[in-house]
Amino acid sequence: MQDQITQYTSEILAFEPSSAEELEIFRIKFLGTKGIIKDLFDAFKAVSPEEKRLLGKVLNEFKKTAEERYLQFKDAFESGSGADDAKLDLTLPGEGFENGSRHPLSLVRSEIIEIFKKLGFTVAEGPEIEDDWHNFSALNFPQEHPARDMQDTFFIKKDAENGDIALRTHTSSVQVRMMENGKPPFRSIMPGRVYRNEAISARAHCFFHQVEGLYIDENVSFADLKQTLFYFVQEMFGEGTKVRFRPSYFPFTEPSAEMDISCTICGGDGCAFCKHSGWVEILGCGMVDPNVLENCGIDSTKFTGYAFGMGIERITNLKYQIKDLRLFSENDVRFLKQFQSEII
Ligand code: PHE
Repeated sequence: MQDQITQYTSEILAFEPSSAEELEIFRIKFLGTKGIIKDLFDAFKAVSPEEKRLLGKVLNEFKKTAEERYLQFKDAFESGSGADDAKLDLTLPGEGFENGSRHPLSLVRSEIIEIFKKLGFTVAEGPEIEDDWHNFSALNFPQEHPARDMQDTFFIKKDAENGDIALRTHTSSVQVRMMENGKPPFRSIMPGRVYRNEAISARAHCFFHQVEGLYIDENVSFADLKQTLFYFVQEMFGEGTKVRFRPSYFPFTEPSAEMDISCTICGGDGCAFCKHSGWVEILGCGMVDPNVLENCGIDSTKFTGYAFGMGIERITNLKYQIKDLRLFSENDVRFLKQFQSEII
């Protein structure tokens, strides 16, 4: 019996089926209810007790070998890959994973944050659903003032008594919360999503992303604002990018300005992108209006400050020359996978 088992064992180890049918024949032959192993166990019952001790072990080993051989091929056939997979070649190159990539807006957002961090700005966040006070009134927008129309607001709840509830139209609301809840000096940026009721087109969307900034301390001047933003532009768009400030109006800053940079596409010579002016607008800024400071409990005779706000989409458009805003929210992987960066 021992010799028989040795012979069968080499047969089993040499067995390499090329189809599921061959494997099934193998199973019936060795492991089936009328198979060789069953016969051997039947015969085993008749052997003498001394022999049993030795043979029992051999027989069990043999059964295990047959079962393992069977399962090894069964798995390969069941995974649909056929017999070739059973001869797994670990030296073959792997199949590799396709890595995802970060969204261009979050790449640029991280880049903006990194630049301002170097200047000592911290990052602050706040709610996207805001009340009238934080989005408008504290920021010096008088009730019924046409300046409120500058930002087409999505109102959630109209409430004359307690103030309307709306989707925030800018992250200046986070500045208000910060000033109300702390003591100057403040030096922070506020990244976040904002909402405006605009028809969706290549140039406008009903939501977009901003990074606003606030710096409040004693003796902060417009010169500080200019130098900070100049530094930001050099870091973001490269040394030598020019900036210019144009007077503007915002209810919460006085004086107010808009800042342009020399066109990133033509370098300032004039092209279709910059409408042949050589300049493109990137942000609004100004000195925080003393009314706003007082509204937030800050002594405007002691402290001054500046604020600025930019759209991340706009910065991304300029940096990567993307002309259609809608690409940012369509989740088309052909677009998204073009953006790779070391910033995680
Ligand atoms: N909150 C303004 C906007 O969303 C931007 C801004 C911020 C302008 C701070 C001036 C100062 O349009």
